Amino acid sequence: MQKMTDCYQLNNGVRIPVVGFGTWQTPGGETAVSAVKEAIKAGYSHIDTAAFYGNEESVGQAVKESGAKREDLFITTKLWNSDHGYEATLKACAASLERLRLDYLDLYLIHWPNPLRFRDQFEKINAETWKAMEELYKSGKTKSIGISNYKPHHIGATLKNAEIVPMVNQIRLYPGFTQEDTVRRCKDEGILVQAYSPLGTGSMLEVKELRELAEKYHKTVAQICLRWSLQMGFLPLPKSVTPARIRENADIFDFELSAKDVQDLASMKNYGGAGFDPDTSSF
Ligand code: A2P
Repeated sequence: MQKMTDCYQLNNGVRIPVVGFGTWQTPGGETAVSAVKEAIKAGYSHIDTAAFYGNEESVGQAVKESGAKREDLFITTKLWNSDHGYEATLKACAASLERLRLDYLDLYLIHWPNPLRFRDQFEKINAETWKAMEELYKSGKTKSIGISNYKPHHIGATLKNAEIVPMVNQIRLYPGFTQEDTVRRCKDEGILVQAYSPLGTGSMLEVKELRELAEKYHKTVAQICLRWSLQMGFLPLPKSVTPARIRENADIFDFELSAKDVQDLASMKNYGGAGFDPDTSSF
């Protein structure tokens, strides 16, 4: 991995740029439009959004205004919890495409495995939802399909009925929070792991262990976190609305962490909390 446009290969052969631009908590409107345009200018070709983020329209506008060619971009969005089930999934994808002003997605993810609304019948609804995802893939509405926030038992339940193995699982990952069981299961099944909140939603920035490494490598804490994510074999999705940080987060290809430092960061104390548990969340 030497530059932003280098790619991982998904289990269906599709190539996916090794760093994506995150947009969770980026408000729709001018903020999102200018952040995404800034990111494309800085060399990101991979943009990650979701129906739930409320900024798909702005991402679509930024993509158009950037002048980038569609085939040079990799665009992901996600199915929200209210839209699980076969028909609802097909409809939700069409609505996302319209908001994004796109003919096809590069990656469509089920955002959460176990929405509160369907919790008493998780396996059944999840299987129907995945069936629709397979349909969207076969019809070309999306070049690849995957899951997000799935733990091993959700992955197992999905695979029981699946015709197509998910290409990606997008989960919360940063130094000190490594979700080893889920990562191992994904590796065993050939599912690429994407890392959201690679800076612990900002909580890594003041961590002493990371500040020491930043000094040692003459890089910033954010860059250490992102480089660690890459060297763990993850695909980090850093979010920022600040032009200088957007550029800083792309400047992670001129150094390498030692194997020991990668390991030490993996086993470091978790300073960033654990996020939501998909089986007990209130949404
Ligand atoms: P902002 O968007 O205001 O620039 P994560 O990607 O883990 O969710 O972290 C996102 C948070 O980290 C946001 O609050 C973002 O702020 C901040 N952030 C992103 N990149 C950097 C950076 N290079 N240096 C400091 N803070 C950053």
